Amino acid sequence: MTQPIIERRFPDSFVWGSATASYQIEGAANEGGRGRSIWDTFSHTPGKTLNGDTGDVADDHYHRWREDISLMQELGLQSYRLSIAWPRVQPGGTGVLNAEGVTFYRDLLDGLIEAGIDPVVTLYHWDLPQELQDAGGWANRETAYAFAEYARAMARELGDRVKVWTTLNEPWCTAYLGYASGVHAPGHTDPAEALTAAHHLNLAHGLATTAVREVLGQDAQVSITLNLHVTRPADPESAADLDAAHRVDLVGNHIFLGPILDGSYPMELTELTRHVTDWSFVREGDLNLIRQRVDVLGVNYYSTNYVRQLAPGEAPGGGSGGHGSGAGSPWVSLDDVEFLAPTGPLTAMGWNIEPDGLYELLTALDNAYDGLPLMVTENGAAFDDEVSDDGKIHDTNRINYVARHLDAVAQAIEDGADVRGYFVWSLLDNFEWAWGYTRRFGIVRVDYDTQVRTPKDSARWYADVIRTGIVNV
Ligand code: NOJ
Repeated sequence: MTQPIIERRFPDSFVWGSATASYQIEGAANEGGRGRSIWDTFSHTPGKTLNGDTGDVADDHYHRWREDISLMQELGLQSYRLSIAWPRVQPGGTGVLNAEGVTFYRDLLDGLIEAGIDPVVTLYHWDLPQELQDAGGWANRETAYAFAEYARAMARELGDRVKVWTTLNEPWCTAYLGYASGVHAPGHTDPAEALTAAHHLNLAHGLATTAVREVLGQDAQVSITLNLHVTRPADPESAADLDAAHRVDLVGNHIFLGPILDGSYPMELTELTRHVTDWSFVREGDLNLIRQRVDVLGVNYYSTNYVRQLAPGEAPGGGSGGHGSGAGSPWVSLDDVEFLAPTGPLTAMGWNIEPDGLYELLTALDNAYDGLPLMVTENGAAFDDEVSDDGKIHDTNRINYVARHLDAVAQAIEDGADVRGYFVWSLLDNFEWAWGYTRRFGIVRVDYDTQVRTPKDSARWYADVIRTGIVNV
């Protein structure tokens, strides 16, 4: 029996876009005066990425951006979320700007605007200048001030071309994958450093927001993109499992939402992590600096987590979902929480597919923050795409994934959440960090030998969605 089709119609004002990030697509790592970033160092360190893949060439977007804009135009994208590589515009992370790098982004933004595509610009999508890392990276408070100066410079140089600035992309990953589990650059495994980094990232967000508004005026639109975790108890009847999920929320979500939107760190969080750090890195006045008006909150969503409270002395089982508990865990202070192995149909990342998690997240944010404007700044899926004999990529699995998540977004809007737009991750197959080029998220295939771009069926389907504002699920 076929399922009845539900037609979901999106508001006319809804923004349809797609997203990428500098290190994942640009390549040209040693061109145009670009400085070295922590991802150059990390990816060139043996054993850190699958197959030793690096972003040296990636999608060669640095040279092919005109072609890529044409592709976006063909698909009818209304908006494009990109990131600026800090080391390309300010090679050492402080001091003089690299004019060639600034010109690259100015031309790119002009190209987008000419094509009728609104740029949403992220200032930090993980490629920290190596010189700042040599001075301690995000564990060093000075990095937050350097970031604010870099943001100020970008507002000056590019501010007339950018409608929405995003300070940071997924600071959870920067802090916990970079400094606790070490699977991302700079590859440290020190829980105290991870919490310190989280605070300095919050501070960086606040200082940069202020700097951008000092240059562009108080109306300048500023956002931050968070990967908020939707965490469910393995046994919904178990008070212990519910409490475990609550602690994951604290360490994973409220460490950012708290200071940025509420102006404080939850007491429970500081208590929970007290054995790791005394939080003396939070200085007087910091919370006022961090809590600035957020015009729109960016939400990146892919999947859910299921957690179980371990009995005293019990070792966690096999499940980890790549980010699990135990040694090398990003989940600082949660050694007694087991992350269950994901079940059901999974994506090529091994992540579960649960669109209702996105609905839950959007409506929960709407309730907690009283109508705060939201934007899905990333959602999408990696699958092992095959090129068929007809030369096409029939990625029905990706279409289903995106359609079901858009259904969840439509439901959230219907139930009152102010969700302003959706950016599919990603426009192009690209460098998926520690997974190198083995995981393909693009709606457009990239042949890494020839750099030929081929829109997948999902791209054609998405173009129809954009054109009609309708999703059938
Ligand atoms: C989140 C990150 O922002 C992006 O860089 C990454 O490629 C996707 N998620 C998929 O893992």
